[in-house]
Amino acid sequence: MAMQYVEANGARIPAIGLGTWDLRGRTCARVVEQALRLGYRHIDTAEMYGNEREIGEGVRASGVRRDDVFVTTKVWQDHLSPPEFERATKDSLVKLRLSEVDLLLIHWPSPRIPLAETIGALCRMKQAGFARHVGISNFTVPLVEEAVKLSTEPLVTNQIEWHPYLDQSKVVAACRQHGLSVTAYSPIARGRAVADKQLRLIGLHHRKTASQVCLRFLVQEGAIVIPRTSKLERLEENMTIFDFALDPPEMDEIRKLANRRGRVVDWSGAPNWD
Ligand SMILES: NC(=O)c1ccc[n+]([C@@H]2O[C@H](COP(=O)([O-])OP(=O)(O)OC[C@H]3O[C@@H](n4cnc5c(N)ncnc54)[C@H](OP(=O)(O)O)[C@@H]3O)[C@@H](O)[C@H]2O)c1
Repeated sequence: MAMQYVEANGARIPAIGLGTWDLRGRTCARVVEQALRLGYRHIDTAEMYGNEREIGEGVRASGVRRDDVFVTTKVWQDHLSPPEFERATKDSLVKLRLSEVDLLLIHWPSPRIPLAETIGALCRMKQAGFARHVGISNFTVPLVEEAVKLSTEPLVTNQIEWHPYLDQSKVVAACRQHGLSVTAYSPIARGRAVADKQLRLIGLHHRKTASQVCLRFLVQEGAIVIPRTSKLERLEENMTIFDFALDPPEMDEIRKLANRRGRVVDWSGAPNWD
């Protein structure tokens, strides 16, 4: 399968990556290794996932050249002061056994640390050669605007929850305006999309599963998708999304699934920035 890429502010990011939240130990290393063998070229992790060591192991075991794999990690909310940010980044690199990551993200914004300080630290990590590209995650429209103003380095993505049940058009538009890509996390709504009647029905016309229709929808909307699976047999299913296309009425039908209670990731602990 030919990989597709999303270009954003100087970065070239594989349009599908493997999500790894909650993947642990040997399972994590095996899934990463197998994903890369199958053709995935993008792995998403974070210091908070506690699996960076196994991600590194999986990447090395796959035999895929380091330069051919796009590795993203994220600095957790408790480590956003500049000295903590630098320490956390270096710890991640030690665990991954990499000299640099392809993309370093601020995992969640924090009202406790001025954004200017964290963005400054993020940019310094790129300037020091620890990250090829930098970006943000879980940033709302006003925060995207603020981050873009503060950053001396191009921000290449905003990683946010995005799937058919959640309308993210406002934040997506803000990102586009500034050249950022959008990375869709929980792209199959933590599994909810798999059983969706409409997605299944659309899938029947294309001989595709609901999960594939859901991921294809997001890719056609311009997103980078990072579905997670712990099952080797589902890796291939989730990446086989570049050999069919949804037509405009199908895209419209899927957009109609969005609703106010669509979120699957708990934002109750997140600051109300809007
Ligand atoms: N930046 C952030 O704050 C943030 C927040 C959340 C997530 N993320 C990232 O985004 C990634 C993906 O999001 P997510 O893990 O929340 O959810 P997701 O990828 O939407 O869904 C994962 C769930 O779907 C199931 N699944 C996957 N493929 C399937 C298929 N083809 N058929 C049936 N079931 C399938 C998986 O179960 P099995 O394992 O049994 O296949 C798992 O329970 C994360 O792993 C993480 O890397 C980032």
